Amino acid sequence: MIKDAQRLKELGIHPGISEVIVTTEVDKVPNAAPIGIVWDEDSIILRLFLGTHTYENILTTGTFVANVIHDPIIFVEAAMNDLSPDCFQHRDGVLTLKDAESWALFKCDPFRTDIMMLPIEFVRGQVLWQDFRAVNRGTNLVVESAIAATRYQALAQDKYLDDIRAWNRIINRCGGPRDKEAMRRLDDYLWENR
Ligand SMILES: Cc1cc2nc3c(=O)[nH]c(=O)nc-3n(C[C@H](O)[C@H](O)[C@H](O)COP(=O)(O)O)c2cc1C
Repeated sequence: MIKDAQRLKELGIHPGISEVIVTTEVDKVPNAAPIGIVWDEDSIILRLFLGTHTYENILTTGTFVANVIHDPIIFVEAAMNDLSPDCFQHRDGVLTLKDAESWALFKCDPFRTDIMMLPIEFVRGQVLWQDFRAVNRGTNLVVESAIAATRYQALAQDKYLDDIRAWNRIINRCGGPRDKEAMRRLDDYLWENR
């Protein structure tokens, strides 16, 4: 049984892997990155790879905020770059995304290892607004492309670029303007770093 399961669902975090934007702050420097919250029957964990600001910040503070948001541009920008300071807002003493639909503060006992499989515990959170929408294949594939792009940067395997190219066709057909703009930015980041 997951403690606070009902409250987490109200905040938009469900069984399976919920892709959220994790905000953290150390020495007043804000950071944001897309991260998956893995809810598997009896456990909720983060899987954190060594070498990111998020990893180091959570190691330092033992806390983070999960922001539920659907904006594909935020996923791409947070994955590939730093979000601008005006994307953040402090609420109830913690750093959140200004445009989050909800936020949830978690705590944990972090430890240094290559891949941190970190059990996490819900502390408190708030629903801010609700983004009621049908599934859009384009938006889902932008998120998928952003993951592939971070893997390409880490592992330099061309198969990730092949996947992104294939998904681009569907994004162009099914996505809205923000999905297409997100992909344009993702392409730019990938080209800059080749
Ligand atoms: C949708 C999505 C989910 C991701 N999930 C994770 C994750 O669960 N764990 C992780 O370590 N990195 C994950 N990443 C990669 C990080 O977001 C990426 O390495 C990011 O650049 C880290 O930024 P930071 O250095 O500001 O923390 C994910 C990326 C995307 C696009």
